[in-house]
Amino acid sequence: MNDEMSALLNDEMMQNIDWSSLGFHYTEPDYIVRAACHDGVWEEPYATQDKYLHLHVSATCLQYGQEAFEGLKAFRGVDGKIRIFRWRDNARRLAKSAEGLFMKPVPEELFGKAIRLALEKNIDFLPPYGTGATLYFRPLLIGTTPRLGVGPGHDFEFIVIPSPIGPYYPGKFHCTTFIINRYVDRAAPFGTGQFKVGGNYASSFRATEAAHAMGMDCIFLDAKQHKYIDECSAANFIGIKKTDRCADRVQSTDRFTIEYLTPRSNAILPSITNDSLMTLAKERGYKVTRRHIRLEELADMSEAAACGTACVISPMDKVIDAERGITYSFGSEPGPVLTELYHALKDIQYGRAEDKHGWTEIVDMTT
Ligand SMILES: Cc1ncc(COP(=O)(O)O)c(C=O)c1O
Repeated sequence: MNDEMSALLNDEMMQNIDWSSLGFHYTEPDYIVRAACHDGVWEEPYATQDKYLHLHVSATCLQYGQEAFEGLKAFRGVDGKIRIFRWRDNARRLAKSAEGLFMKPVPEELFGKAIRLALEKNIDFLPPYGTGATLYFRPLLIGTTPRLGVGPGHDFEFIVIPSPIGPYYPGKFHCTTFIINRYVDRAAPFGTGQFKVGGNYASSFRATEAAHAMGMDCIFLDAKQHKYIDECSAANFIGIKKTDRCADRVQSTDRFTIEYLTPRSNAILPSITNDSLMTLAKERGYKVTRRHIRLEELADMSEAAACGTACVISPMDKVIDAERGITYSFGSEPGPVLTELYHALKDIQYGRAEDKHGWTEIVDMTT
């Protein structure tokens, strides 16, 4: 099938949805996909229209927070083809989260099968190219064994919930103001911060909701010393630092070294977007450094942002440290390095640029 024909077919299949006004909200899909695990054995995933669970009131997910989740997207490309972005990395991260909470990991191939089935059964919810909207998948793993005594269960349910979501930037790519939070710790240094588990988010609500009420987002510091930047509520942190090589007496044709800085911490989620952006930054000749970043280093950065699946990059215009009365400013418009990386990654996701790293899986829904 040529590109024109597949684009035509896509148009015919589209739901009557105003894609641009969706936002990051749940839109009821036709189907979800489920698979249970009993006695250590996973059943085959199946699609169902029933969005409710018959769950025991003492299930370990409810009693002890034994649950983990993921977030990934499928894109309709410029060529009409459907691309799922780095699903294997999400499958591996879910497996790590499962191990972290003493759950039976979902096998990678089962994860992939469930995502493809969810896509196939909800193909009308995959937004057309050009709308900026995407089909988001929320894979969820829960402990279902009834238990009263504190301890892990041994029965699990894996669920994939698809939902179309609107463009993160319905207008133009823009900045958000962030505020430093010191009154809520998101995750302890050897706690569950490196896993994508519900408890991390519930524990951060007090801080994130307070920031949102002021039209801002918040940055969490390391829980032990409140000295280093950890991450944002649902995104990693990136800073761009320009070093004047002449001042350093380094011989070079380029006057500046541009450094992509991102925190090294046991308490943060290994972001797949951040990993992709680091690769793209290295390819473009930028120095990429992952290390502890002191809060005060914000003053040396020319650009700063949060990054994650939902936004790709959310540039910061200001970071406010209210307790210390300091505001770090990065300009009211997104800076050149982050803008370049933002478009570079989106171009790969939408098939506008070559995917040299094999990040996207093209799914053929015509057979
Ligand atoms: C706490 C946290 N950090 C970072 C990220 C970004 O990760 P990713 O790029 O894989 O979406 C997310 C979103 O999943 C998150 O919830």
